[in-house]
Amino acid sequence: MTRRFEFEKLGQDGKARLGVIHTPRGDIRTPAFMPVGTAATVKAMMPESVAATGADILLGNTYHLMLRPTAERIDRLGGLHKFMNWQKPILTDSGGFQVMSLAQLRKLTEEGVTFKSHIDGSRHTLTPERSMEIQRLLGSDIVMCFDECPALPADRDRIADSMRLSMRWAQRSRDAFGDRPGHALFGIQQGGLERDFREESAEALKGIGFDGYAVGGLAVGEGQEAMFDCLDYAPDMLPEDKPRYLMGVGKPDDIVGAVARGIDMMDCVLPTRSGRTGQVFTRNGVVNIKNARHADDPRPLDENCSCPACRNYSRAYLHHVFRAQEMISGMLLTWHNLQYYQDLMQGMRDAIAAGTFDDFQRDFHAQRAQGDI
Ligand code: GUN
Ligand code: ZN
Repeated sequence: MTRRFEFEKLGQDGKARLGVIHTPRGDIRTPAFMPVGTAATVKAMMPESVAATGADILLGNTYHLMLRPTAERIDRLGGLHKFMNWQKPILTDSGGFQVMSLAQLRKLTEEGVTFKSHIDGSRHTLTPERSMEIQRLLGSDIVMCFDECPALPADRDRIADSMRLSMRWAQRSRDAFGDRPGHALFGIQQGGLERDFREESAEALKGIGFDGYAVGGLAVGEGQEAMFDCLDYAPDMLPEDKPRYLMGVGKPDDIVGAVARGIDMMDCVLPTRSGRTGQVFTRNGVVNIKNARHADDPRPLDENCSCPACRNYSRAYLHHVFRAQEMISGMLLTWHNLQYYQDLMQGMRDAIAAGTFDDFQRDFHAQRAQGDI
């Protein structure tokens, strides 16, 4: 039986939405945070540990996987879920955005983008059609349209041209994706911080018709205030009965602010990357475990956290293994950070269900302001 892909809205408090996305590989509770598993691994984590933190879905990357080990090889080996031992849903980004930030000698045309691999300098081409093919070979559950976007600030002409190209690519992505029951295709709104371009982009995407809609082109250098100004209107332009995904965001306070403005899904490397550099997210703010003041501290990182780093180890131990560059440091701190993010999402889902999202936001900011960490 192939269950359909379907978004069910369960509640709303202000603009914050509670829901569940039903997929053949399981339900995704929203608001959802997707840990990033770029190269077919959430770095430093076993997949069963990622699931234990409460993650319902992972993000994978077309750009990295097409270069190594290649989509064709993953397909021959039974698809990405089997390859990386993660049986729940996977969303894959489409590659264009990563080409622009990682690849060398990029050349952008109407057809697509050619580039040199950041790994070995080999030449490659990505088009909407090829991106759809790669994401199909990977076995992705949620496929993203092939798009591109300028870093901000950029002038209005550049933003408009880029957005309109991405909308033509969105139509080509839709055509190439075809009809694949149980799999979803998401459109990506662009338009920078220009309200009229966001509107034009949303109208173009709605005209094509997608299973979900992403807000793209944010968190690219504009700062939180400008991003929130845009999120005050951009999600409202997208269909109310489909999931809304804010790409590449963010810090914990970005995430709470985005949910308050009607966003249902997010992804970011921050919890995993920070875990490997000793930066830890807690209810009272950011802790840097490298700091000498933790060297004799027998307390856990976060008394209210259920993760193994907090249940079984002291700050002193975590400080020691970080300083000694032991592998367990990245493992424990990544687990903790992912647990913190998933607990944050659960807290927001509970608050939306209870109609207390305003109180949640107030408590969230008040606790962080205490700074006793
Ligand atoms: N990741 C963060 N922002 C974006 C975006 O605008 N497009 C895509 N494809 N991925 C992103
Ligand atoms: Zn913890």
